[in-house]
Amino acid sequence: MAADQKGDHERVPLTINGQAIDAKVGVTLVEAAWDARLPGITGVGCLEGVCGSCRVMLRRGKEITLGLACQTFVETGLEVIFLPPSSAPRHHYSISDFRDSWDIHARFHAIFPEASRCRHCHGCVTSCPKKIAVEDGVALAAAGRYREAGEVFLECVMCELCDGACPELIAPAHVGLFCRRVTAHFHLRPPNLVTRLEELRRKRLAGSKGESERE
Ligand code: SF4
Ligand code: SF4
Ligand code: FES
Repeated sequence: MAADQKGDHERVPLTINGQAIDAKVGVTLVEAAWDARLPGITGVGCLEGVCGSCRVMLRRGKEITLGLACQTFVETGLEVIFLPPSSAPRHHYSISDFRDSWDIHARFHAIFPEASRCRHCHGCVTSCPKKIAVEDGVALAAAGRYREAGEVFLECVMCELCDGACPELIAPAHVGLFCRRVTAHFHLRPPNLVTRLEELRRKRLAGSKGESERE
């Protein structure tokens, strides 16, 4: 029998949000929850591992890990809890207020004063479903190496599981986002994008001029 045919028929027991179900082998935890018509499965978006919204806690015997439900397949005996959305960000800033890069370091430490208090517990690293070197990224940011830190976080999907795991409330996901934002903010845009935006700006100007002449 082909593996996919077998998967269509074989079922294994597991629990999702405390409810015991038998799920098809080969389907993801999201599909299993939907197939079983479990209520309250709301944190689901892309089903492709890019929106970071299907956050789950997974228990295998004594081992507890975190993950994305759309990227995790059913397993015998797995205990799954869908986690609620993360709470509102605590670190506020407006990137448009950043006029030059001389005071970035002062701004960063004013916005993220906890970032230099990393206790190197690795909680953020072990919680990251994208296997990002989160701890290194935080250390680079705290040292003012924002471009390099931003590169560490390039694959980040902002699931914020690392934020929940951090005992120092550093919010590593938001540290990474800050680094990517300031890097983009202070870099020249790609020339083809600049040229295209200028073309569009001129067309819009010509269009609005034509309209006012017709009026
Ligand atoms: S760095 Fe944090 S927010 Fe980004 S994917 Fe990893 S756990 Fe999720
Ligand atoms: S979870 Fe927080 S304190 Fe622990 S290594 Fe990561 S950033 Fe540092
Ligand atoms: S639904 Fe988007 S990452 Fe799982």
